[in-house]
Amino acid sequence: MATMRINIDLGSSNAGVTLKTRENANIEFRLAQTGDIDALCEIENQSFENDRLNRRAFKRFVGSETARLIVAHDGGDLVGYGLVIFRRNVALARLYSMAVAPQRCGQGIGRLLLAQAEECSLDFGAPILRLEVSQNNKTAISLFRAAGYKEFALYPDYYPDHSDALRMERVLVPDTLRLPSPIHFYHQTLPFTCGPASLMMAMNALDPSVEMDRNLEVSLWREATTVFMTSGHGGCGPLGLALAAYKRGFDVEVFSSRDGPLFVDTVRKAKNREVVELVHYDFARQAQEAGIPITTGAFGIAEIEQRTQQGQMALVLISQYRIYGDKIPHWVVVSGFDDRFVYVSDPDIGDDHEPFTGSDCVSVPILRHEFDLMARYGRDKLQASVFIGKKAG
Ligand SMILES: CC(C)(COP(=O)(O)OP(=O)(O)OC[C@H]1O[C@@H](n2cnc3c(N)ncnc32)[C@H](O)[C@@H]1OP(=O)(O)O)[C@@H](O)C(=O)NCCC(=O)NCCS
Repeated sequence: MATMRINIDLGSSNAGVTLKTRENANIEFRLAQTGDIDALCEIENQSFENDRLNRRAFKRFVGSETARLIVAHDGGDLVGYGLVIFRRNVALARLYSMAVAPQRCGQGIGRLLLAQAEECSLDFGAPILRLEVSQNNKTAISLFRAAGYKEFALYPDYYPDHSDALRMERVLVPDTLRLPSPIHFYHQTLPFTCGPASLMMAMNALDPSVEMDRNLEVSLWREATTVFMTSGHGGCGPLGLALAAYKRGFDVEVFSSRDGPLFVDTVRKAKNREVVELVHYDFARQAQEAGIPITTGAFGIAEIEQRTQQGQMALVLISQYRIYGDKIPHWVVVSGFDDRFVYVSDPDIGDDHEPFTGSDCVSVPILRHEFDLMARYGRDKLQASVFIGKKAG
């Protein structure tokens, strides 16, 4: 279909985008305003027999923070709308409804509306768009199929007319960007083994002969643990993880915003703090003897991006606060970047995580600015990354 972009900015502002349909009509797409509601209700009544959105619902979606109601205008006429809804911190968006004025159907407006809905999803940070459509709605199903949507489930007897709902989804980022290298998921089996589990995923991606099992998970933890944290078992620090990878023949490099032991302030008993310090300085000595490059000081995601572009895997310390609401330091693996997203594999994706299709726990796209906020732990904005590279030779 011939389309031409004239100006783009539908993200969160109300500025519009004008696109040409194949009939050469200039259609303006923008976010809905209160003044559009009469026309929206008219299209709704013409397009659906049941389950219509009413005036109150449209009003709620205008300006909603977790929805984008996109309207299509031709001159002064409202010719269609698309409604996308989101949940915070969830990578899935839902195309809740969409309609084109009956007299303007078949001119390519639906296809353009769908593309705008996809752009909104990506801008919101949701790279997967899902929808439900009645199995009887052949027109809409062929529109979605033609746009790359795949069926993944069926809700029987879903609509008031007893028709089944087909559930469809499209992953909006290309696979090649999602998976710069084949990463296999390893779910940490203990609350304090995010570091070992992340390191295993990174090593296995660089060398598939590394077997990811509990033996290795526990061995790595024993080698890299800080021993204590708060009142329980210690997680792993950057130096311990770097040494564990180095001993297995990988190239390693460490970035840390702090020179000295991390997390020591979270340890309650003075005696335990001493142990954390002992362990840290022993790791620091070993790292120096091994010639592991360590850069101390604040750093940005540009440094991480540069190394992943060179084929390194990055273990990055994040705060779980922005994901799960807990102020817990947590290691994840970063495998790549594109203009919008950082691709992150999180060994702690919980069992209640809504399954995507395929290997969806690896290389999950997170908006760059979100990731930048996550990758700083606590009040001191602590940063730590360990870069793992292929074994030389
Ligand atoms: C579904 C709907 C939004 C499509 O909008 P549209 O502007 O007519 O769609 P387009 O002209 O962009 O067509 C896009 C694709 O849809 C399919 N399509 C459109 N009209 C079709 C028809 N009459 N029969 C079969 N397929 C059709 C084709 O695959 C078409 O691609 P193509 O033109 O390259 O072959 C519109 O028909 C509508 O509003 N229907 C009523 C409300 C509704 O069912 N909404 C969807 C609920 S999930």
